[in-house]
Amino acid sequence: MSRILVAYFSAEGNTRKVAAAFSKITGGELFEIKPVEPYTKADINWMNPLSRCNKEKIGKKDVPVVGRVEGFESFDTVFLGFPIWYYGAPNIVNTFVKDYDWSGKKIVLFATSGSSDMNKTAEKLEHYLNGDHKIVAQKLVRPSDSSDDLKAFVADALK
Ligand SMILES: Cc1cc2nc3c(=O)[nH]c(=O)nc-3n(C[C@H](O)[C@H](O)[C@H](O)COP(=O)(O)O)c2cc1C
Repeated sequence: MSRILVAYFSAEGNTRKVAAAFSKITGGELFEIKPVEPYTKADINWMNPLSRCNKEKIGKKDVPVVGRVEGFESFDTVFLGFPIWYYGAPNIVNTFVKDYDWSGKKIVLFATSGSSDMNKTAEKLEHYLNGDHKIVAQKLVRPSDSSDDLKAFVADALK
């Protein structure tokens, strides 16, 4: 039987809800990608040029993650979710991703955003994904998406 991991980062809770829904639909194991230094409200105020999120973005900084996924090699499929930050995945997701060997994995990307699409998010992430893997599907999840929409997406992504 295929083993599914649902790994996600969420600063404000939107992506967390979607990750929980995907875990329920797929039976996949949840892993929250948490920063060692939690983000405060001020940290993620992108309107302030001196805020942490802007410094991380501009400095292309790594964002250390709490813990590791146990037995990562035993998962066949990884659902990887995050909010869109600056039209792509947040730096912490890049840091998480480059720490593992993705050989043989199917990857399903999902994201939430204010309004942006996924655009070149997958292409940018590829830079950090080691090993011979395949991004098989991706979805920008909107609040209006029903659980039937999510189920249909999962069925299509996993077939
Ligand atoms: C630092 C930062 C950058 C963001 N950049 C974008 C963006 O480029 N495009 C967009 O549509 N939304 C952007 N947003 C909004 C988030 O993508 C959106 O609120 C998302 O649903 C938050 O997910 P979360 O609750 O799981 O953290 C940004 C939010 C933050 C905090």
